[in-house]
Amino acid sequence: MSATNATNATLEGALPAPLAFVRETPRDATWRNAAAARDIQPLIRIRDVEMRYPGEHSGETAKVLAGVHLDIHEGEFHVLLGPSGCGKSTLLNIIAGLLQQTGGTVTMRGKAIQKPGRERGMVFQNADAAIFPWLTVLENVEFGPRMAAVNKAERRAIAQKYVDLVGLAGHEGKFPHELSGGMKQRTQIARLLANDSAVLVMDEPFGALDAHTRRIMQNELARTWRETGKTVVFVTHDIQEALLLGQWVHIMSRAPAARIHKTYRVELPYPRSETDPRFIRLLAQLQGHFDFGVEREPAIAEEAA
Ligand SMILES: Nc1ncnc2c1ncn2[C@@H]1O[C@H](COP(=O)(O)OP(=O)(O)O)[C@@H](O)[C@H]1O
Ligand SMILES: [Mg+2]
Repeated sequence: MSATNATNATLEGALPAPLAFVRETPRDATWRNAAAARDIQPLIRIRDVEMRYPGEHSGETAKVLAGVHLDIHEGEFHVLLGPSGCGKSTLLNIIAGLLQQTGGTVTMRGKAIQKPGRERGMVFQNADAAIFPWLTVLENVEFGPRMAAVNKAERRAIAQKYVDLVGLAGHEGKFPHELSGGMKQRTQIARLLANDSAVLVMDEPFGALDAHTRRIMQNELARTWRETGKTVVFVTHDIQEALLLGQWVHIMSRAPAARIHKTYRVELPYPRSETDPRFIRLLAQLQGHFDFGVEREPAIAEEAA
């Protein structure tokens, strides 16, 4: 063991592999067989997913996704990290049931996902496409419980709790056109949390927020996740955010034919802090992999071994 490794071991204490390189996406059936051999059924199982958007002339469009495999178990926090345009939103929309893949299978509890469902709540990249312009902040957040026929007093209390949590207290009566981009996004997040979906599907939800608010929201999301045992699938292009939040970080390769190129298990305890020396070191390591993309060998695998 080198001196560097010895230092790392001391730094990490009881966590031998703080950023364990897990696997590369297989080009053969080995990985699939290994996954099948696990006796626990994943909550969401993604196999060999391919996506091709329809073009003006059929057959002319490139595959956006090809050969995407992913197992998401109940209560886990997964982050999909990838450059802009690589197909992150496409994959999330497929998981949410808003988009049907053109190849492969996506199942939840063993059943094919074919349409959106209450058990999978989504936060969209663009809040304008998601919140209702004719409803106030509070009414937007209350919408899910209202659809679920929760009585008025109770759903008001639920909505208020999440409005407070996202820092929109005092703005309950405002309409979306009276809100900043960040406030609209927080309304969307509060609405998702009030829905009490088992799976939170989040597409760059904090991208529109200022740095201070983003930090608060990241902490609140991590706390909510740990307290509720929800399953989270979170998309970002921000490595620091991926490392602050994810138990699993999946790096996607570039389009066309993007897939999950590498998967990491992040063993840092929560709540995580970007000033923690271990965090800083892991960030630098992950950054190296992300910058160099597909050509780079996983140096972390050697350290973790
Ligand atoms: N509705 C669509 N029709 C055709 N092409 C699309 C559509 N939506 C996305 N794309 C293309 O698919 C690729 C991946 O897009 P997207 O999933 O939005 O990437 P990301 O979220 O990673 O930025 C891009 O090249 C984009 O232009
Ligand atoms: Mg996107």
